[in-house]
Amino acid sequence: MAVALALFCVQVLLGAVTAHYTVEGDGFFGIPLSKVLPYAVTRTWHVQTGIFWIATAFLATGLFLAPVIGGEEPKGQRLGVNVLFGALLLVVTGSLAGEWFSIEQKLGLDAGFWFGHQGYEYVDLGRAWQIALYVGLMLWLFLMLRAIAPALRKGRANRQMVGLFSASTVAIGLFYGAGLMYGARTHLTVAEYWRWWVVHLWVEGFFEVFATGAIAFLFTTLGLVKAASATRAFIASTTIFLVAGIPGTFHHIYFAGTPMSITAIGATFSALEVVPLVLLGKEALDTLRMEKRADWMSRYRWPIRFFVGVTFWNLVGAGLFGFLINPPIALYYMQGLNTTPVHGHTALFGVYGLLSLGLMLVILRTLTGTRPWRNGAISLAFWAMNIGLALMVLLSLLPVGLAQTWASVEHGLWYARSADFLQQPVIETLRWMRMIGDSIFLVGVAALMYFAIGLKTGWSYAPIGEDEREREPADGREPAMAAVETRG
Ligand code: HEM
Ligand SMILES: [Fe+2]
Repeated sequence: MAVALALFCVQVLLGAVTAHYTVEGDGFFGIPLSKVLPYAVTRTWHVQTGIFWIATAFLATGLFLAPVIGGEEPKGQRLGVNVLFGALLLVVTGSLAGEWFSIEQKLGLDAGFWFGHQGYEYVDLGRAWQIALYVGLMLWLFLMLRAIAPALRKGRANRQMVGLFSASTVAIGLFYGAGLMYGARTHLTVAEYWRWWVVHLWVEGFFEVFATGAIAFLFTTLGLVKAASATRAFIASTTIFLVAGIPGTFHHIYFAGTPMSITAIGATFSALEVVPLVLLGKEALDTLRMEKRADWMSRYRWPIRFFVGVTFWNLVGAGLFGFLINPPIALYYMQGLNTTPVHGHTALFGVYGLLSLGLMLVILRTLTGTRPWRNGAISLAFWAMNIGLALMVLLSLLPVGLAQTWASVEHGLWYARSADFLQQPVIETLRWMRMIGDSIFLVGVAALMYFAIGLKTGWSYAPIGEDEREREPADGREPAMAAVETRG
């Protein structure tokens, strides 16, 4: 948990530096920072640490939930988890260091491919680290399945839900393997094809299933929804996610030497991806209601609020801003403009970032027992991160992206991305405006760290009697979660 939060911190600071380079060139407020940390390094690290902390949170949540689902902790599980954790640390530090060496041209081309930087966004890490990560995911899968297995065997009421949740973990683990299907000298179109298998099928397929499953499971365990109705909703949303999401992969390769028929399939199905995301709007309202229903155990109010944030950004970031760039004619003009980070930030952080934070908060809440939290910092963190994200997009990335789109249609993509266009005074001002949203976001992250540290040192707990609503009626605890809490 601490590692995931620390990586999150590093990621946002790298993001701030990277964004700053785009307005100041190669300095950071006059300091020649890019001599040691060039743009390519901060940019790569920003994306990689983002993936790492979100992945760490997912893996940890899975490992935390699995024995709860299965009802018992298998022998040797703790050892397995510790080994996995050590391996993850090795991959994170090793791959980030390798990327720096590669960009500084300190590795040859071959060694660079294996230990440095592959040059493929989101799967940047050297091949050796990538293989190590794959092995780690297989270990995770093994640890997950052996812990979940008893629930599948005993034929419990929520067996279908558990089965689907397990299937999503299998898919998350195995599909990373698609990233190993190309080599250093594979043709770009083939490499891109496989790379999107990993990136797209993860975020628009199996992660969605995992997320829906984890939240459904938590809500049933907390006693907020009945297992039967949660299972129904889970199966329905999983079906529409995957039916649209799998052929939707082709929206990434419209212009990568793809035949027109494939472009058409990609365009049609990825447009359908918006359907379940719009339905999530209703789910957000349901979740809000859940929050009210959960009032009697208001300890879980904040984690649940983070899940409401997830559904909101699923609708806006993935659904709306994803759709904005999604039809082939749109992407023909808009590929690689600022409209892409509009979607990238609101969907990736908005959905999986907030989800990871919400899941971590659930675990922290469970581990800190019934001691009431002091909610000021966490509430500041939630609002500052959400408002900061919205402002970053609305004040800066979106207007710049739309202006670029205009320029791309009028003059061509080359012009929309050129220094001539981007260094006009209006556009420069708009790019500086990012500071506002970014700074508010950073305040939110600082508040979150302050809160998390306070759970260790004690300042994040409310003194008894300070906030009556936070206190639990002694007999009011939901039995299943209470059982988890005593284990923790
Ligand atoms: C939570 C779900 C989603 C996440 C986390 C997500 C994340 C991302 C990210 C990070 C990128 C940037 C890739 C790059 O820079 O090369 C991207 C690209 C893209 N996304 Fe999504 N996305 C999600 C859902 C969707 C949906 C539902 C749609 C369409 C309806 C969509 C359409 C696209 C398209 C067309 C691109 C390519 C943009 C380009 O190549 O310029 N995404 N997505
Ligand atoms: Fe996609």
